[in-house]
Amino acid sequence: MFYASTTGSRLFTSGSLQRLPTSSASTILQDISSSKGVAKVILKKGKTQLFRDGGSPMVYSGAVDRIIGRPPPKTGDVVLVADGTQTPFAWGFYNSSSMFCVRLMMQLKHESSDPLNVEKLLDTRINAAIKLRNNLGLPSSTTNAFRLVNSEGDRLSGLIIDVFGDLAVVASSAAWVEKYKEYIINCISRFTVIKNVVWRPSIEILKEEGLDLALVDQQQKDDLSTSTNQTVKIVENGISYMISLDGQKTGFYADQRENRQFLSTISHGQTVLDMCCYTGGFALNAARGHALDVTGVDSSSPALELANQNIALNNLDPGRISFLKQDATAFMKNAASRNEAWDIVILDPPKLAPRRKVLQSASGMYRNLNSLAMRLTKPGGFLMTCSCSGAMTQSGQFLPVLQGAASMAGRKITLVRQSGAACDHPIDPSYPEGAYLSNFLLRVV
Ligand SMILES: C[S@@+](CC[C@H](N)C(=O)[O-])C[C@H]1O[C@@H](n2cnc3c(N)ncnc32)[C@H](O)[C@@H]1O
Repeated sequence: MFYASTTGSRLFTSGSLQRLPTSSASTILQDISSSKGVAKVILKKGKTQLFRDGGSPMVYSGAVDRIIGRPPPKTGDVVLVADGTQTPFAWGFYNSSSMFCVRLMMQLKHESSDPLNVEKLLDTRINAAIKLRNNLGLPSSTTNAFRLVNSEGDRLSGLIIDVFGDLAVVASSAAWVEKYKEYIINCISRFTVIKNVVWRPSIEILKEEGLDLALVDQQQKDDLSTSTNQTVKIVENGISYMISLDGQKTGFYADQRENRQFLSTISHGQTVLDMCCYTGGFALNAARGHALDVTGVDSSSPALELANQNIALNNLDPGRISFLKQDATAFMKNAASRNEAWDIVILDPPKLAPRRKVLQSASGMYRNLNSLAMRLTKPGGFLMTCSCSGAMTQSGQFLPVLQGAASMAGRKITLVRQSGAACDHPIDPSYPEGAYLSNFLLRVV
């Protein structure tokens, strides 16, 4: 059972495991357990409805009329959010630098007779997140790698926690998350079987959050010079993986779990090409699904080293699955010039549109890559193509881009399956920006 209290988790900070101090962040919490001394962010006339009940959890600075209260709030502080009459209706975490002035945590008429209590909020929300995963059958005997907390989707904007066996990796992208770091770690360990915690601040995003640049830079240097250099073994869909805690994202792309599982069901007797394969997720599932022959391609040596280890770890026939280090475009152009083609092609490139501003140029990149991938798909075969760019997914332009790619390749496509991230990545409908992953299965003729 996932609920099990531990006597305290340990934190990876600088290559070694450290026992956490037993005290929580309760000292920080004392001064906010009542609303005394808490600043009020007053919204402009007509803006309240945008953020009240079911509205966006992110209050952008343009919606704010003024801030009252002494002392003025600092980044990461709890603030009340009030309508034009100064009546508070919600509370959240303040940020003086970000375009998001307040990350709303709770509407005041709901849930708590004891508002403004960060400790209680974290306990409640993390507990709810654990329950949801348990109800979704996570972890299970075949999967111990999954997302435990998905930011806005679990009503903890800026906090991501992935679980890998008895280890949790925290990806922090908000000033408040850094401020309550110790408490968050204690909270995770109190509710779960987690023994160790790796803290991975998203440095660039935290800079935008206005965290002390010198401090963040130093932390980054420390992290680089003393990387954990640690691999852990996980299991997903019954397939074992070695993953690196210094790897991409939190170390593993748990979001594609259900799509990988689906791929294994259509792979029998097929030739499969996994473009941008990372540690081999799709390729290994295809091999487990009795594909005839599987090739994975990626430009990252550390990822491919693990992918190769994963072949042996799963007792797969190395004659039927192999990984190549190459640039995706170069590989696909060369393969096309040799008229090579596969029954199933997977294309899961990195985030090509990190911001809405670059969507147009990124669309061109997606079109070119997909056009090449279609050329490598046998007539009547499948292309499973992905975009992890939130800007692309939310624009609704991915399918038109794929249609453009098909014209470019002189092929026809039909959409056979449309999916996103796995169910342990819930999305708050009030924050559709949380939907970042598109996974489309196309029949290419
Ligand atoms: C979204 S991840 C793929 C995740 C993978 N499909 C999985 O299931 O774990 C994107 C991958 O693209 C790789 N990549 C980035 N640029 C590349 C390039 N120019 N050529 C090939 N691979 C590239 C990265 O190393 C990374 O492994």
